[in-house]
Amino acid sequence: MPIKQIITLSNKHGMQIKLSNWGATWLSCILPVDGQNREVLLGCQTFEQYEKQDAYLGATIGRYANRIANATIDIDNRHYPLVANQGVNQLHGGKLGFDKQLWHIQSQSDQQITFTLTSPDGDQGFPGELNVEAIYQLTDDNKVVIKFKATTTKTTPVNLTNHAYFNLDGETSKDILNHSLQVNANLYLPVDSNGIASNDLVCVTQNDMDLRKPRLISDRLLASLDRQITSGYDHAYLLDKNQAIAAQLISSDKKVTMNVTTTKPSLQIYTGNFLQHTPNRNNSEYGNFAGIALESQFLPDSPNHPDWPQPSCFLQPKQIYEHHTAYQFFIN
Ligand code: BGC
Repeated sequence: MPIKQIITLSNKHGMQIKLSNWGATWLSCILPVDGQNREVLLGCQTFEQYEKQDAYLGATIGRYANRIANATIDIDNRHYPLVANQGVNQLHGGKLGFDKQLWHIQSQSDQQITFTLTSPDGDQGFPGELNVEAIYQLTDDNKVVIKFKATTTKTTPVNLTNHAYFNLDGETSKDILNHSLQVNANLYLPVDSNGIASNDLVCVTQNDMDLRKPRLISDRLLASLDRQITSGYDHAYLLDKNQAIAAQLISSDKKVTMNVTTTKPSLQIYTGNFLQHTPNRNNSEYGNFAGIALESQFLPDSPNHPDWPQPSCFLQPKQIYEHHTAYQFFIN
């Protein structure tokens, strides 16, 4: 019987991350700041708590990250009903997504680990057997690189991401409202109260959604109608591929900066608007806005919007899905 394991990777600067084969989950991220260990990733104390929470803390999300409207897709004139798990829609791959699977540890070294998973044909309604690899690497320049690879036996949408929540101020901080955030994107997707696209992509200057210059997360947070609908940021931004980085997050004490780079076309910015009651590591619970997730992905519901300006989210047999995202930390 396979068991849940915890694996630690460390680098020469004293940075340390922890991962688990359960959900190929990123459990912890410790940075040496002013001679102290600073935990910058949200997480629980026990696996039981991880299993109960519904915030997808640090988990690998698949087969399809974010929402698919009405939990249905069409491929080659065939209709596929998927497993719905948020009202009529599907969120993060269905009731038993990749976050709830026990992955196989294929290889492991001091600074890298590879998890693999086979998702059977029909899993959560998706066609084709999907063979997935999730590789985490901790480099000596304080980068956590997450690579995903996949192959399929039938055409299927694939959108793998990691659902880490960051609070760069560390565990004593209660929220990320005074972090500064920059996202290099000219367009974003407005959504309705169910998180489903309510419009086409629009310019970030509309509705006060512009993050192209560093901006405090608290800045007019609930003043824009778009953010009121989702109780904070919970929006996909289409990245400007001409920029060197996708996003930058800076702690409120300015001691930690995190740069995000990715091969994915979009970043879901989610400010933890519904984190309340999620168990933390200290026998207590997180509150709303305790952490921010910067999830690299295809735009939500892409299988039903082939017209959107991004590469196709469908993987064909004989193709290889390959994407990577890196979170790099700079300590002042
Ligand atoms: C979604 C949120 C959702 C959260 C946890 C995020 O990726 O955008 O709407 O509440 O995941 O499920």
